[in-house]
Amino acid sequence: MSNEIRWGIVGPGRIAESVMPDFGVTPDARAVAVASRSQERADAFAARHGLERAYGSYAEIVADPDIDVLYLATPHPQHHALAMAALRAGKAVLVEKAFTATTAGATEVVDLARETGAFVMEAMWTRFQPAVVELRRLVADGAIGEVRSVQADLGVAREYDPADRLFALELGGGALLDLGVYVVSFAQMLLGTPDRVVATGSVFPSGADAEAAILLGYDDGRNAALTTSLRYALPGAARVVGTTGWIDVLPRFHHPRTIVLHRQGAEPEEITRPQTGAGYAHELIEVTECLRAGRTESAVMPLADTLAVQDVLGQAADQLGVRHTEAVDVL
Ligand SMILES: NC(=O)c1ccc[n+]([C@@H]2O[C@H](COP(=O)([O-])OP(=O)(O)OC[C@H]3O[C@@H](n4cnc5c(N)ncnc54)[C@H](OP(=O)(O)O)[C@@H]3O)[C@@H](O)[C@H]2O)c1
Repeated sequence: MSNEIRWGIVGPGRIAESVMPDFGVTPDARAVAVASRSQERADAFAARHGLERAYGSYAEIVADPDIDVLYLATPHPQHHALAMAALRAGKAVLVEKAFTATTAGATEVVDLARETGAFVMEAMWTRFQPAVVELRRLVADGAIGEVRSVQADLGVAREYDPADRLFALELGGGALLDLGVYVVSFAQMLLGTPDRVVATGSVFPSGADAEAAILLGYDDGRNAALTTSLRYALPGAARVVGTTGWIDVLPRFHHPRTIVLHRQGAEPEEITRPQTGAGYAHELIEVTECLRAGRTESAVMPLADTLAVQDVLGQAADQLGVRHTEAVDVL
């Protein structure tokens, strides 16, 4: 591996477009190629972002020997097949959230990564936001005592369109995998893997979930109360409650700038930590540094946490009667 980490982009859609400028502020990383299902879309994306190579199929970028890591930015059900192919080709992978559409799919990817020793990480950018890093530092320092409860909500008001990936079940549609993944991952980060999951909500005519409230229970009484929705907007706030205070994460908590520390008996303390670039740079830096150091996973977004989150989402989907599947014939 050369000194510089060479990246390939798979699926030039909305998020890929947003992430691209942050390569410019990621040391030792260079985006060199893109792959689309359409040569025309690949060419246009490569021209916009100054990439060296544009492929009209995903199979070609997987086979490109001059790429170290692929960033998978397709809808969730395509992640599994692409990650499996990339790992078999000896490439590292950064996989957009939700990691996969199913727990079984996520487990297969993680198993193969561990077998081949290749690096895989879920692109859960929240965990790398400087304000979230500071929150975790404060919690670890005992600033609010023992964390007992987490509250978080994330929702957007979107008009129902069964063809849109947000609503189409075969494209992983529904609030859970798109937005619920953030509230669940945030709670899992602070409380660990829950002993019980209780979900209630509603589904769209497509069979994708429209809204959900999820309660995570722990045998020692700790809990998380989480809400997500595609039917109506939610503030995007989070609160971490401890035995001697709490921390508010000001909206929107999945890429926050400011947290407010409420220590018992003290005035609230506002702490602001701006992002680098659009906020995606931090996860790109993590992957680049992990690869340069020869690590197979991130300590900040470990694969065990990704699996735990995917399992909670799967249990919630089951309870709502939502049936997600992994896509086949992706490459
Ligand atoms: N981290 C974040 O802030 C963030 C924000 C938004 C989305 N995401 C995640 O990123 C992923 C993509 O979301 P997005 O909003 O960027 O979606 P999008 O705009 O629809 O783009 C997805 C791209 O995937 C490719 N694709 C492959 N198979 C497809 C299929 N069967 N149907 C539709 N498109 C297909 C398409 O590119 P080609 O056909 O040209 O190959 C498309 O442009 C999702 O997993 C989502 O959760 C993350």
